[in-house]
Amino acid sequence: MQQTHTKSALLGVLCLTLFMGYVRAHGPDDEAETATEHESRIRIGLSISPVPLNLVKKNRALVGLGSYIVNAQGGCNDCHTNPPFAEGGDPFLGQPKHINQAGYLGGGVAFGPFVSRNLTPNRLGLPAGLTYERFAETMRTGRDLKNIPPAVPSEDVNLLQVMPWPVYGEMNDRDMRAVYEYLRAIPCVGSATRCTP
Ligand code: HEC
Repeated sequence: MQQTHTKSALLGVLCLTLFMGYVRAHGPDDEAETATEHESRIRIGLSISPVPLNLVKKNRALVGLGSYIVNAQGGCNDCHTNPPFAEGGDPFLGQPKHINQAGYLGGGVAFGPFVSRNLTPNRLGLPAGLTYERFAETMRTGRDLKNIPPAVPSEDVNLLQVMPWPVYGEMNDRDMRAVYEYLRAIPCVGSATRCTP
């Protein structure tokens, strides 16, 4: 009798240990946290976009995630907005951060002979005038599909020289889509011809 009790107690402890290990490895907490983190990135993304977003026919969650990647991680504004900050809003001068909304991601920053491009959607709604396929190809391969000089030829391909495509190219498809979806939702910067449908 005594032996049976000890056995079942041991078995109980063993089961509990295994169960705790399982909970730690695959537990509902882990999954719940991932979902919450995902949600929180979307929420932060939507709240930190420096420009109003046009969400018509857009996937709101993707736009939010894209904004998080662009505005909290990617640093696209630093190179693609000229100047990146509004008058009196340059954090590098100790001022409260205020992004240059009027020129947001409109390009035109010179890095020696290389000039950053306008990433905002054109009148057809295409960011930088690129379809998703061409956008993703540019981000992943650095190929300048527009062949805008000066380009430095490598073998027979023109490669973007300043743009950190070797970094961004590592993004998974969902994140790449999210960046594109966000760029689709921001206001067009440029002439009436570029922007008016
Ligand atoms: C270090 C500066 C820098 C950063 C940061 C940067 N870019 Fe660029 N990007 C450039 C420059 C400069 C060019 C064009 C010329 C070149 O690189 O040779 C360019 C080109 C591009 C192009 C090609 C557009 C076209 O017309 O073909 C795309 C798309 C692009 N950038 C997207 C992005 C996105 C999205 C981000 C943020 C996730 C980003 N860039 C961050 C500097 C930058």
